[in-house]
Amino acid sequence: MKPIRIVLAFVLLSATVAIARGTPRVEVFKSASCGCCSGWVGHMRQYGFEVTSHDVSDVAAERRKLGMPDRLTSCHTAKVGGYVIEGHVPAADIRRLLKEKPQVLGLAVPSMVTGSPGMDGPKMAYDTLLVARDGSTSVFVSH
Ligand code: CU
Ligand code: CU
Repeated sequence: MKPIRIVLAFVLLSATVAIARGTPRVEVFKSASCGCCSGWVGHMRQYGFEVTSHDVSDVAAERRKLGMPDRLTSCHTAKVGGYVIEGHVPAADIRRLLKEKPQVLGLAVPSMVTGSPGMDGPKMAYDTLLVARDGSTSVFVSH
């Protein structure tokens, strides 16, 4: 290889590693019959996340195991980069979380809001909540 090619190969490799580091894999726990959950998985993939989806019989058990409070329940729970994500949280909010790296449990969009990513219908107003490790919440992004 000519030196310039070696440099180019190195640059490409570094860029690939950087992208891989910037986008940790998302692990989703959902029930097999959940259509809107699959819609959210599709949304995450569309925004560049690699997603592993697990169909489980007891989504609530997975959610509790990960420490997400019951009152913030939605239809699926996910793990990404050490954070817990509950419900139809937009990919852009997760990107911001991964960039800012706050010391929290994760994000939640409780219930299932019409028009949120993966949910059909006209867009309703909702908040993505930042969930602290003690379970308290604050508004992370208003949509
Ligand atoms: Cu849903
Ligand atoms: Cu879901």
